[in-house]
Amino acid sequence: MRLLTAAIATVALTFGAQAVTAAPVEIKFSHVVAESTPKGKMAIRFKELVEQRLGDKVTVSVFPNSQLFGDDKVLEAMLLGDVQMAAPSLSKFQKYTPALQIFDLPFLFNDMGAVDRFQQSETGQELLNSLRKKGYVGLGYLHNGMKQLSANSPLRVPADAEGKKFRIQTSDVLAAQFEAVGGVPLKKPFSEVFTLMQTKAIDGSENPWTNIYSKKFHEVQSYITETDHGVLDYMVVTSAEFWNGLDDDLRAEVKKALDEAIAYGNEEAAKLAAEDRQKIIDSGRSEVLQITEAERELWVEAMKPVWKQFSSDIGQDLINEALKANAK
Ligand code: LMR
Repeated sequence: MRLLTAAIATVALTFGAQAVTAAPVEIKFSHVVAESTPKGKMAIRFKELVEQRLGDKVTVSVFPNSQLFGDDKVLEAMLLGDVQMAAPSLSKFQKYTPALQIFDLPFLFNDMGAVDRFQQSETGQELLNSLRKKGYVGLGYLHNGMKQLSANSPLRVPADAEGKKFRIQTSDVLAAQFEAVGGVPLKKPFSEVFTLMQTKAIDGSENPWTNIYSKKFHEVQSYITETDHGVLDYMVVTSAEFWNGLDDDLRAEVKKALDEAIAYGNEEAAKLAAEDRQKIIDSGRSEVLQITEAERELWVEAMKPVWKQFSSDIGQDLINEALKANAK
């Protein structure tokens, strides 16, 4: 009996000691943009909230500016456990799920309000689960904003894009979009864009205002046409293995902190887009071109056939659902 008591005491001590010294869960959050962008700010807010509330149970390290991984490697690294969270742009998931290509269709969403309504709809929320089979969990959408066209010559009508080289993200829809106006799309990592522009290896690109300003693209592109022709938003993802391995209470706390950080990031996105647009105009480094409704219509007409090209891949029903979000 005494032996048994001693054994129980030893077990209790061992487990007790383990509970005290258990190493904190480590979350490495890797992304490719500057800390001053909606994604950069969201990631920092997430770290602050988690560390404030969960103390030494969870640590979050944020790696901005492609310091740890570019978006071409980050999802593979996640399955290997080398990084636990990332928020690649929705344009970078094509290899994992064709449905997410919907977000790249040109002129699909009228504005960020429509993007948000679609993301928050039942269909939009279901898309967060579209990566499950590949071992990822979509934890939420994060906004950046509508994209603008930049180049080292003025782009007012589609014919101006003819023969010009455009850097794009790794998306076939975006490739088709530039091909539709006679452009030459080049899939290149975000970390290379500034140099490609500076050395004139590319003529132009498409980016939301916060990416243009924070990476100084406006200093190496003479013109930016305000087209709002598409959206650049993100999905915050983690690996199913990591996420399901967290204890239930901890997972719920981490998710709550993330939801709050995303809400903050989304508020910042709208504010920063307007501020950074103005800063670019004030800098005088790049001329911001307004196009007329008739000119815009020419871009729409030229790019719209891309919808048909990808409708079976994406699903026409999904496209119809997304279009509904344009109605307020
Ligand atoms: C890009 O590659 O242009 C963007 O996806 C970068 C980003 O994360 O906003």
